[in-house]
Parts: sequence; structure tokens; C-alpha cells
Amino acid sequence: MTDATSTSANTPSSGNGEASGRDVGLVGLAVMGQNLVLNLAEHGYRVSVYNRTTETTDEFVDRQPFGDHIVGYETIEQMVASLSRPRRIILLVKAGVVVDKVIESIVPFLDDGDIVIDGGNSLYTDSTRRQTALADQNIHFIGAGVSGGEEGARNGPSIMPGGASEAWPHVKEMLQAISAKAGPAEDEPCCDWVGPEGAGHYVKMIHNGIEYGDMQVLAEAYAIMSAQGRANGEMAATFAQWNDGRLKSYLVEITSEILAHTEESGQSTIDLILDAAGQKGTGKWTVISAMELGQPMMLVAEAVGARMVSSFVETRARAAEVLPGPDASPALDASLTLDDIGDAIYAAKLISYAQGFMTLDAASEEFGWSLDLGSIAKLWRAGCIIRAVFLDDIARAYAEKPDLENLLFDPFFADALSSAIAGLRKTVVAAAAAGLAVPAYASALTFYDGFRTARGSANLIQAQRDYFGAHTYERLDKPRGEWFHTDWVGSGAAAVSGSYSA
Ligand code: 6PG
Repeated sequence: MTDATSTSANTPSSGNGEASGRDVGLVGLAVMGQNLVLNLAEHGYRVSVYNRTTETTDEFVDRQPFGDHIVGYETIEQMVASLSRPRRIILLVKAGVVVDKVIESIVPFLDDGDIVIDGGNSLYTDSTRRQTALADQNIHFIGAGVSGGEEGARNGPSIMPGGASEAWPHVKEMLQAISAKAGPAEDEPCCDWVGPEGAGHYVKMIHNGIEYGDMQVLAEAYAIMSAQGRANGEMAATFAQWNDGRLKSYLVEITSEILAHTEESGQSTIDLILDAAGQKGTGKWTVISAMELGQPMMLVAEAVGARMVSSFVETRARAAEVLPGPDASPALDASLTLDDIGDAIYAAKLISYAQGFMTLDAASEEFGWSLDLGSIAKLWRAGCIIRAVFLDDIARAYAEKPDLENLLFDPFFADALSSAIAGLRKTVVAAAAAGLAVPAYASALTFYDGFRTARGSANLIQAQRDYFGAHTYERLDKPRGEWFHTDWVGSGAAAVSGSYSA
């Protein structure tokens, strides 16, 4: 490899002369890749594109409206050679081994200081590994979470970059230009540096986990309203109304549109869709990481589990025949109102986000990433799937108190939760009495009640652990950090037999 000789091409080039080199390369012309290329070209960047299948490249380049702002190349080598230095190459390929293979195929043509940006849904530990490996070859690696689906990629996604911070000045202007904008004047980019190593993909992973939770929370509202006998049109109107207030969000908006959608026959599309949810793994990764960090991201865990249960289509049909519900499947409590259900959604979301930010906080501490939680909330205000007015409140909470111990301690959230919790409780009780599964709501309520219990029942767990495994316990009548063991069967008395270190 040779040294990079030219300076950063952070802004779009004015001319189109190949001598100065093109602005950015992109590998992977699936839906997300194509839309991101169009977004870059619309912002004046001259993009060199490469796809494993040349027909896809040709087809895309032929029908795009930005002329020579988008040029296709048949080989990676040609694509890399077309770029000005330090080269900036975005990968939008399938997460996993494909990313490694593409990196392997690009590296031989790169020079010191060139930048590789992985914009897929990669596992954060892979991004940490890739950054370290590429740093050894003087290549800067950025793992960038990109959220917003096809529409976001085209018109402005939320972008969460992390990794080699030296590369940030070279890509900042470009990534911020193509990102969604939020704030009162809609001029604050939903793209900012997140942190070192796999921090960008970690934050995207937590975003996706929260996305699973939000979707489950809305699906449970749909289940309850259906059980109340409400028609799809009425539910669509209810979601639309909710989208005018504190629940205003992309997912509530699309839920309303989905429920209103009909087939040519007039039948509701939603009624024709098999109730078996897919998943690609980011929700599961979120839960695994949260568990590893000792953080109870239980609402998301329930959302992942609910997708798993939903996939047991045939087994559920058999279970429906043999496993009884409550007596004669009573109807839902008639006094349960739409306001109660709206409160349940809001309270469950507040608790889910609190759990998500607890996990981010713990990850920041564990990995030494110094994550700025307020700035992360700001990145999610527009462009991404979980965008919601609610994120403004979270950003404000952390701006006012960056060392906030827990989101639920912020006065706004504490008040909001105390007024919505009764609706959540009523909804969970009504659903349980009617034999209707509401795992996300039940989990949120259980967390709330456990979290606000100053003296719980884990004393019994500690006693059991000490009984069968001499694991020792701390005592209320002794200072914290002193450990005791009881000879539970020996004398029959609960005599403290000594002080142990944990
Ligand atoms: C986004 C989404 C996206 C993800 C889908 C599907 O932020 O744009 O999170 O990255 O691919 O949500 O995820 P599942 O297939 O796991 O539901």
C-alpha cells in the first residue's frame, strides 16, 4: 500500500473530472444500497457503485436520473481506483460473513488512511473486530447503524456511526448531509459520532430492540381492541387519533394506515396476513447483550419471545383445542376504554425506553465508550423506525441532567408514568382475566412494580442459594459487603456461622 496523497473530499466535488477522483464508493445495490446512492447523488456527491452482479449495476445506473453523478464499475478494483483519497467506501451488504468477504476483496486496493463504512445491520462485536483488524493495515473502519428502511435511505435515514474516530472529519459532512433532519427548524442532522469500536452498531442494535418492543406494544393494543369487537376501520381511526398526541410516531402512523388498507375485494389486508412474525436477529442480540450487562430489557425480551410463539402456527392451533382459557373465555372488562389502552401503550413505551437507556448506559460503562445518551436520543428523532415525539422528551431529559440515574426519575417521565400506569394496570388485569396474552404490557407492569419495591422477596432467593450451595448472603443487621452463611439444617436454628467474602 502507498500513502494517501490527496486531502479529504468531504464536500461534493463541483466538476466530474476523474482526475480529482469521485467522492464516494458504494458496494451492494440491493434496495437499501440503491436508495442510499440516489440520496448521495441528490446531495451532489459523485458515487461509484459496484455490485456482485453486473446486470444489477447496469440496470440501476441506466434508470437513475442523476447522470454521471452515479457511475457503475464492473470490478472492485476499478471502483476503488475511481475514488479520490482518502477513499470513502460504503458497504451495504448482508450482515455477517459477506461483510468480511467484501472487506477482504477491497483491502488490497486501498491506501493508508482510506475509509470503509459498513452501513448494514452488523453485530457490534464484528464491527469492533473489523475496526481493530483494519487499523492494523492503516485502514479506518466505521460501523454505521443506518435506520429508516427503503424510504429513509432515499430521503434521509438516521445514521449512527462509530469506530475509527480519525475518519469522522472525512465523512461527517457527507453523512450528515444525507441524514434525516430534526429539531424545531428541521435542520439538526440525525447523524453524529457515537463512539469507538462497535458503538455505532451497538446503538443501532438497541434501536432495533426498542423497535421490536414498540411493535409488540402496538400489536397488543390491536389484539385487545379486536377482542373488544372493534372493526379495523375504527382501530385505524383510533391509531390515527393517537398519532396526533403524545404517541405520535412513525410506527403508530403506519399501524393506522395498515389497519385501513383494503384489498380490491374490500376485505382488510390485515385480516389476510398469517400471524407468524419473522425476525432477523437484532432483537435477540439486544436481549443477549442486555442480559450480559445485567440489564433487564424485559419488554424487548417478551417482544422477541412473542415473535417466537407466533411462529408456532400449527402447534398453537393444536394448543387452542386442548388448553383451556378462563371460564367460557369471558369478554374483556367492558369498562376498559380506548384511553386506558392508550395509557397502556404510553406507559409500556416509557418503561421499554427506560430499560433501553439503562442498557446503553451499562454498555457505555462496560466498554468504555462514553456514550452520550442525550445525543443518541436526538439521533432517533427523525429518519429511523422508532422516530417519535417522545424522543424529544428523552433528549431533553438527558440534556437537563446528563448523569440522570434512570429515565423514570426525570420529573416529566415520572409524572407521565404516574398518570398512565393505572391504564396499563387496568389493561393487563382485563387481558389476563379474559385469557388474552399481553406479554409486553404485563412485563412492563411487572418491571414497574418490581422497580418501585424498596424491599422485595429476593431475601428468599438468597436464603435458598445459601441453603443448597452455601452461596452466602448479606444481612440487614450488618453492613453491606459482609457475607454470611447459615447452617440451615444442622442446628435447626438460623445461626450465622461466619463471615465470608463473596
Ligand atoms: C431499520 C430497521 C431495519 C430492520 C428491520 C427488520 O431501522 O431500518 O430496524 O434495520 O431490517 O426492522 O428487522 P426484523 O426482520 O428483525 O424485524
